[in-house]
Amino acid sequence: MKRVLVVYYSQSGDVARAAESFTRYLNAPTVELTWECIKPKADYPSPWNLYKFFDVFPECVNQEPPEIYSPKFSEDEKFDLVIIAYQVWFLAPSLPIQGFFKSKYAKALKDTKVITLVVCRNMWHSASEMMKKMIASVGGIHIDNVVLTHQGPALLTFITTPRLLLTGKKNRFLGVLPAAGVKDEDIYALSRFGKRIANHLEALSDSSSQPILKGLGAVEVNQRYVIVEVIGHLAYRPWAKLARLFGKQGSWSRMPIICIFAIQLLFAIPIVVLVSSVVQFLFAPLIHQKIASYVELLKSPSGAS
Ligand SMILES: Cc1cc2nc3c(=O)[nH]c(=O)nc-3n(C[C@H](O)[C@H](O)[C@H](O)COP(=O)(O)O)c2cc1C
Repeated sequence: MKRVLVVYYSQSGDVARAAESFTRYLNAPTVELTWECIKPKADYPSPWNLYKFFDVFPECVNQEPPEIYSPKFSEDEKFDLVIIAYQVWFLAPSLPIQGFFKSKYAKALKDTKVITLVVCRNMWHSASEMMKKMIASVGGIHIDNVVLTHQGPALLTFITTPRLLLTGKKNRFLGVLPAAGVKDEDIYALSRFGKRIANHLEALSDSSSQPILKGLGAVEVNQRYVIVEVIGHLAYRPWAKLARLFGKQGSWSRMPIICIFAIQLLFAIPIVVLVSSVVQFLFAPLIHQKIASYVELLKSPSGAS
């Protein structure tokens, strides 16, 4: 009997449905599945109001998560595998999931194999690298990473995803734009990963960091977004530090700076996309090697198909 813990947080239900599909084949007599939905002590509304949405930005980037309510498992419990299903908030793992890692319950990951499943619009690179560090910091053995992104062309998700987050509406906008969130077929297809794990349960017994999910198309890295995300991640940091100088999440004193950040972001996004395309075009020979090795890092540990 193998003990598998699934730690997740979900607002629209996309992450929860992804985790359920991922583990479908682990609902077997040989596996004891424990589900843990993280409950943060801070309130994160869904759908979001516009101000609250931007007001979580500094804490996401500065890694200042809320405390979480005690989960059902004890901090000393041992599992053979922990699956962390999470979403990206402002290029970082969401605050509730960061809260889990800051809690004593993250001890459950120590010397234990960990598989991550990230669900987001399409900018997951920085969050994924942050997650790898968070797992290492609690002594977990990260063996696989699976990425699932929202449906439709990336450019259109700049409209469909905010609409989903701010109104809760997933349907095709104006009858022409694609539906928001993750495609049902993509969610169902995640069961191939759980099937592979179910067929290789013995691989959970050793303490190696060998991936189990290689060759299944766990991760797809689009090179076009690499520089955009790097610039975005670097630009977010000073804004997050500055905003924190004006107060904590929810405080009136930081309202002006959060509003300024939100407005400048509207203009910054197209500028960053343009600058990164120019940089990539002009300096291609100089940065090609660096980008290629970063892409390899992003693909690890599972690799693309
Ligand atoms: C505050 C906030 C910030 C977000 N930032 C990002 C981001 O930086 N990159 C991205 O790809 N998606 C981002 N998203 C989109 C979510 O990752 C995505 O909607 C995910 O599917 C949510 O899953 P859930 O509804 O199950 O919680 C953000 C969502 C929220 C609420």
